[in-house]
Formats: sequence, structure tokens, C-alpha cells
Amino acid sequence: MNVTELVAHFAQTFGRQPAFVARAPGRVNLIGEHTDYNDGFVLPMAIDRDVTIVGAPRDDRVVRLRSANFDDEVGFSLDRIAKASDGAWSNYARGVADVLQQAGFDLRGFDGVIYGDVPIGSGLSSSAAIEMATLMAFAAAGSPLTLDGAQAARLAQRAENQFVGVNCGIMDQFISSLGKAGHALFIDCRSLAYELTPMPAGVTVLVVDTSAPRSLAASAYNERRAQCEQAARMLGAPALRDVSVEAFEQRRSELPDLIARRAAHVVYENQRVLDAVAALRANDVRTFGRLMNESHDSLRDLYEVSSKELDAVVEIARSINGVYGARMTGAGFGGCAIALVDDDQVGALTQAVAQEYPRRTGRQPKVYACVASDGASWRAL
Ligand code: GLA
Repeated sequence: MNVTELVAHFAQTFGRQPAFVARAPGRVNLIGEHTDYNDGFVLPMAIDRDVTIVGAPRDDRVVRLRSANFDDEVGFSLDRIAKASDGAWSNYARGVADVLQQAGFDLRGFDGVIYGDVPIGSGLSSSAAIEMATLMAFAAAGSPLTLDGAQAARLAQRAENQFVGVNCGIMDQFISSLGKAGHALFIDCRSLAYELTPMPAGVTVLVVDTSAPRSLAASAYNERRAQCEQAARMLGAPALRDVSVEAFEQRRSELPDLIARRAAHVVYENQRVLDAVAALRANDVRTFGRLMNESHDSLRDLYEVSSKELDAVVEIARSINGVYGARMTGAGFGGCAIALVDDDQVGALTQAVAQEYPRRTGRQPKVYACVASDGASWRAL
């Protein structure tokens, strides 16, 4: 649905005209996987799929939200924010309202129609997009939010951690907040310093959704986090971010095998992000693609968060001329893979995936060519 259609939907639902449109994008991560909660480095880009809220302020402390995706409407009072049932889409919005108020902001109620075209549950951060779009809607409705983009992302992450109950890192909310058209965002997840890096011309980031359910994702994610913390403790480091490749190799044998493999992924992945940023700055797409491949292989073999579907997409992609690199993106266990491919080979790659992937897995893929896009924003209508 475009904004014009959402405006009509709003007028029909609430019997008045909307006053603002707020939006926030989903993301893909180019490299730096499972590094954010180790205080490390990531390089995501915001994509041209987002969550949009068309709304108008209310005079009371009530939020009413109609979902155009689910044909569902919720209302809640800012004076008593209860959690909806587990998995309900409105929890992301409720959680943002709750943490903003806990941070001391005086919120204003609003009516809104919310719609997203970020595929849900595919690992493209539709939840971070709802959180950041809701935060923007509160600002648009006249709540005095004196927050910069990094602080806004931190609060959205807190909503997900504390209200929704998912123990994610900072990457998804940060890129949804601060992404920029035509750029990837290099983030230091400890200091939250960040730097925009232009995406090279002539290549496309192709996203392939495996359409495979992300089973075990939450429990395996928490288990990986605990293993990383154990490794850092055993190495006497505040976080794996503080362990260089050289220091790790010197002490690797002190760690139990499984913990050593998990830590090896994180330590080398952090270095790969630094190398990938240097390659981007030098417009060296080949090196960048090789690092993407190494990242995937490490996630598959050492961190063990890939899946047979993700590996199938990656193998198919790597067999096509003009593909520089391919890897899973996001937490793993299903979800999406990405390939960096010459613009003029997008058709060949799409066709290869459409033919080969169902044959290998019995599932139908969804393929999206993505463009690096702007982070969260709002405007008056
Ligand atoms: C999910 C989390 C992020 C990050 C990635 C893995 O997307 O939400 O914080 O940990 O997994 O890199």
C-alpha cells in the first residue's frame, strides 16, 4: 500500500484526515554477523522496504493503531501499557511507548494506520522497523523527543529486550534509525560510533528469502551469546571485541573445542568487517565479496547458525558469473541470504535461484533486489 492508499484507509477508519506519515526501513547485514552483542563491528544497509505509519495526534493519552497487514486494530492507554499476547505485532509499538515513558518522555497519544512491506519473520528486521516507525510516529504526533538517532535506536533495542523479551543486539534498530540512501553503515557496537560508506556502483545486493521457518532461532541465539561470554571470561577479556586474531591464536588451545570455534568466528569476523570497510573505501568489490564468502563459511562451520536452505542459496549464487560473494544475513537458522552481483547478472542469478533452489530444497524462494535506503523519518502531510 502506498501513502495515498494509507491516507484513505486512515480517513475511513478514524473519520478524519491524518496529519503525518512516519516510516522506518528493514535491513540486510552485509558483513559482521553475531558480532554486535560481542561489542564488535557490523556493516548493514537499510533496504527499500519499510514500515509506514500514517497518523494524527489525539488529545488524550490513548494510542489506537490499525494494522493494514493484518486487518486488526488495537488500542492502549499510555497510563497503563499492558503486553499483548506473545508474538502479537502490537507489542513492538507498546514496548516503544513503555521505554520512552520510562526514559522520562511525555508522550502524546495518536491514531494511526500501520503497514509494512518488510517481509515478516524472514530476518530482514521487520520488528526493528516497527519499533523505529512507532518512535517516529510519537515524535510526529508532537511528543517532545530530544533524542539523536543513536539514542533512539538504543531505546528501541531496549523495547525489544525488556518489553518484547528478545535478547537482540543493537544492529537492527541502529541501521533502521541511521541508514542512508546509497550507503552501508559501519557501526562500532561498543562506542556506537558510526560511519557511512558509499555502496559501489554497478553491483546489486540481491536478497533471497529461503521461505524456511526459523526454527530454534531464539534459543540457539541465546546459547551462542552465552558461549561468547564464556569465551571472553576464559580469555580474561571484557568482550570478544577486545581479543585480536593474534591474541586469540596464542590462547585458543586453552578453550574447550566448541567454545573455541564460536569465539574464532567472532574474532575473525570482526577483522573481516574492518577489512571489508577498507575494501569498500577502495572500491574493491572482489575483496569485499571474498570476505562475504569467508563470513558465510565461518557461520556455517564454526558458529553453526546456517541451514541447508541458506547453504543451498549460497552455493547456487556462487556458481553464477558476476557474483562476487554470497552469505546468509541476520541471525540465521533460516531467513535470508544475500549475494553481491554485477547489475547485468541479476537476471541470470534470479533465474538460477528460481530453477535450482526448489529442486534442491522443495521450497519456493522469494527474491528481492535491494537498494540502500534512508533510515527512519517523519513528515507532516
Ligand atoms: C539478529 C539480532 C542482531 C544481531 C544479528 C546477528 O538480527 O537482532 O542484533 O545479533 O541477529 O548478527
